[in-house]
Amino acid sequence: MSYPLIVPFAALILTSFLFCRLGNDDNQFEISMANSGCEVHRFDPSIKSAHIQEGRHLWYHRLSIDWRDPNPAIAAHKLHSNTKKLGTILNEFGHQKIDVLKADVESAEWKILENLILEDVVEQIGQLVFEVHIHWPGFEVSGNDSTVVRYWYSLLRELELKDFRLFHTYKDLSKPQMFLKKEAFNASSCYTLSWVNTRWK
Ligand SMILES: *[C@@H]1O[C@H](CO)[C@@H](O)[C@H](O)[C@H]1NC(C)=O
Ligand SMILES: *[C@@H]1O[C@H](CO)[C@@H](O)[C@H](O)[C@H]1NC(C)=O
Repeated sequence: MSYPLIVPFAALILTSFLFCRLGNDDNQFEISMANSGCEVHRFDPSIKSAHIQEGRHLWYHRLSIDWRDPNPAIAAHKLHSNTKKLGTILNEFGHQKIDVLKADVESAEWKILENLILEDVVEQIGQLVFEVHIHWPGFEVSGNDSTVVRYWYSLLRELELKDFRLFHTYKDLSKPQMFLKKEAFNASSCYTLSWVNTRWK
């Protein structure tokens, strides 16, 4: 799979696996971006140390993106403190902009997308490459099917209103053909959607 990328001066690529890392854990993309001189940060909660530098431009961090910061009381006990909002991570790293954000967060993408939109973090991102999962509503999304679909649609619509343009879609045929817990012929429960921020400067 290849993405028509604008070659960025400094790219922050986040690949965040919040829960299960289901196969397909291909880091060739990150490595080739780093080799071409982009600054690449990969977020993976399963690594052994807090920060590992793999090359001149490639870092691994024991962190994953969430749609909320940890409760301070819980963070004090160092439980779940590996998850943070993207806005918080950017502030801590001193980054204003991300050229490319690539995320596979195993169904947490809807709440994370909502958080990025509500906090205007999405405007700091040049290109979004998100794996979306539609076999169930996702974390903390409830309601009947039409409520869930309206919620998903409203997030995609918000991106459009912010002048994000969908430029590539990929249907993962290796995943079950499911839509909201029902079998759906010739559908996939997992798509990779890529948008470019046309207001990006
Ligand atoms: C789904 O839930 C919404 C909000 O609770 C309700 O207005 C709507 O009638 C429900 N639709 C169906 C098909 O049950
Ligand atoms: C399955 O979906 C693809 C689009 O994703 C379409 O091109 C193809 O014709 C469909 N196949 C069948 C058998 O409906």
